[in-house]
Amino acid sequence: MCGIVGYIGFRKAYPIVINGLQRLEYRGYDSAGIVLANGNAVNLYKTKGKVIDLKKIAEDNITEGNFALGHTRWATHGIPNNENSHPHKSNSGNLVIVHNGIIENYDSLKKELIQRGYTFQSETDTEVLVNLIEEVQSQNNCKLGKAVQLALTNVVGAYAIAVYDISKPNEFIVARLGSPIAIGIGENHEEFFVASDASPFIEFTKDAIYLDDEELAIIRLGREIKIRNINNDTVIEPTIQELKLNLEQIEKGGYDHFMLKEIHEQPHAISDTYRGRLLADKGIIKMGSVDNNITKFLNAKRIIIVACGTSWHAGLVAEYLFEDLARIPVEVEYASEFRYRNPIINKDDIVIAISQSGETADTLAAIKLAKSKGAFVFGVCNVVGSSIARETNSGAYTHAGPEIGVASTKAFTTQITVLTLIALKLGNLKGELSNSMFHSYLHKLNLIPDKIENLLKINAKIEKIAAIYKDAPNCLYLGRGYNFPVALEGALKLKEISYIHAEGYPAAEMKHGPIALIDKSMPVVVIATKKGHYDKVVSNIQEIKSRNGKIIAVVTEGDIIVKDLADHVIEIPETEEAFTPLLTTIPLQLLSYHIAVMRGCNVDQPRNLAKSVTVE
Ligand code: AGP
Repeated sequence: MCGIVGYIGFRKAYPIVINGLQRLEYRGYDSAGIVLANGNAVNLYKTKGKVIDLKKIAEDNITEGNFALGHTRWATHGIPNNENSHPHKSNSGNLVIVHNGIIENYDSLKKELIQRGYTFQSETDTEVLVNLIEEVQSQNNCKLGKAVQLALTNVVGAYAIAVYDISKPNEFIVARLGSPIAIGIGENHEEFFVASDASPFIEFTKDAIYLDDEELAIIRLGREIKIRNINNDTVIEPTIQELKLNLEQIEKGGYDHFMLKEIHEQPHAISDTYRGRLLADKGIIKMGSVDNNITKFLNAKRIIIVACGTSWHAGLVAEYLFEDLARIPVEVEYASEFRYRNPIINKDDIVIAISQSGETADTLAAIKLAKSKGAFVFGVCNVVGSSIARETNSGAYTHAGPEIGVASTKAFTTQITVLTLIALKLGNLKGELSNSMFHSYLHKLNLIPDKIENLLKINAKIEKIAAIYKDAPNCLYLGRGYNFPVALEGALKLKEISYIHAEGYPAAEMKHGPIALIDKSMPVVVIATKKGHYDKVVSNIQEIKSRNGKIIAVVTEGDIIVKDLADHVIEIPETEEAFTPLLTTIPLQLLSYHIAVMRGCNVDQPRNLAKSVTVE
């Protein structure tokens, strides 16, 4: 997820675009760049770091011109550095592009272009795209709009792009597939704005067009915008909407808090994490970093997972996944304990380090320790180029996009997604999963984003339940098997944003102590999915019921037994038990969110917490 801003018109473009980029920094903030055109004079500045760093460079130079395209980056292909930051130029220097999204087949396109003599300055998929456009334009001797359209029909992946030809600074081409792009229309077509959302131009115009997927727009000063379908070339009548949201609302996508926005982004984030990896129709899981180290993974005698907080909970889910699906023994370690426990690490152990930020000090130290003892360390991170990503021997990124809310939500589910893909792949390669089982799992996994999309419709119902328990002094969370870690995560979410004391437990542990806490003031969240030791969980619910505990049960659609026992029932769609954590965690995220809001807590920046704990 990156931020794109562009302007063409009668005003000075630089301040509009640079301020717009700062408003979009919630979308990505690891590098930034801007190209300015003043007639045929072109100035391009780009740098690793935040927009403020770009400002310093640009304002030491020329910022004149009525045309500009800017970008603030969230790295996916290529670490954050000056070369990989946008805008990117084509080999001839004539075409300039900014891009938000992931081009999955960029590698094969790049190889083809190299054979045709193209060279590349960066590691990005975006530079491949602008050179592909240049190649198509020279092959077909066509206009820029046509060249972009033809080039995009060869592209697999997601994109929102803005492209311009330096010889024609009064027009640019924007196109979309999967990533958002809005066009702001000035009076009498005397100026146009493009941006990933409307926040960069909301004070200039209330008229906006939101491009739909597979649409391409040709924007020329003084002319109507022309929109075409990229694949069938049909002309599309633009739909101009009047902007009603205020700035803060737009940045939060119309949600009240980044946390709620990020909870609702999970279907998209998981699809992005699948992108180019989960090819269910082909019956394969493609993960370069695992494929390149497959011998190590297949010969691993043990997997040791190190992490902190929510990432540790994702590690605990992975323990069930690897042992159940790939029959590889797993130990899950708090990185802070692991680093000082002088742990026994054997050479055929694999250590998996999980971290959203990639900067957590204890996890980083645990990695260094494991490496010093000869272990192969594989990272699962969300921030490209982060310290942990650089310190590990190899790894896989979760493509959750920037997570602004301190309470981790979409990073948790995308971490579980990456670990599920690896466990399934190894299980099949080791023969623990037959090809037919493997294929059926892949198809069921592919359905998860839509299932979450539907599940999110329970938001209002969860809000009602939250209103009943917002003043509870304590809360217990119970789960078994795959959903024991989800119970821990649910408790952590409630603790960290509502400040209610909450604890998660394996449901069977109740009798060994926590059941003493149960009375009519104790809400107990119980995860009782159909295939997860269901009967046992039902009897745990009866134990709580008989002590007047208040039960909020998360069950599989169509459940009839728990319905009669619990005070509140939240249904999740049916799926494989191994995949249920991706669903059962959603209502728990929403419950903690609504309780925290009702208690007037600062949901996005809870007290005493930081998004990344870089000290021990
Ligand atoms: C989770 O909501 C918290 N923000 C915290 O527990 C977090 O998971 C932990 O600090 C680990 O962070 P990391 O994933 O960035 O390493």
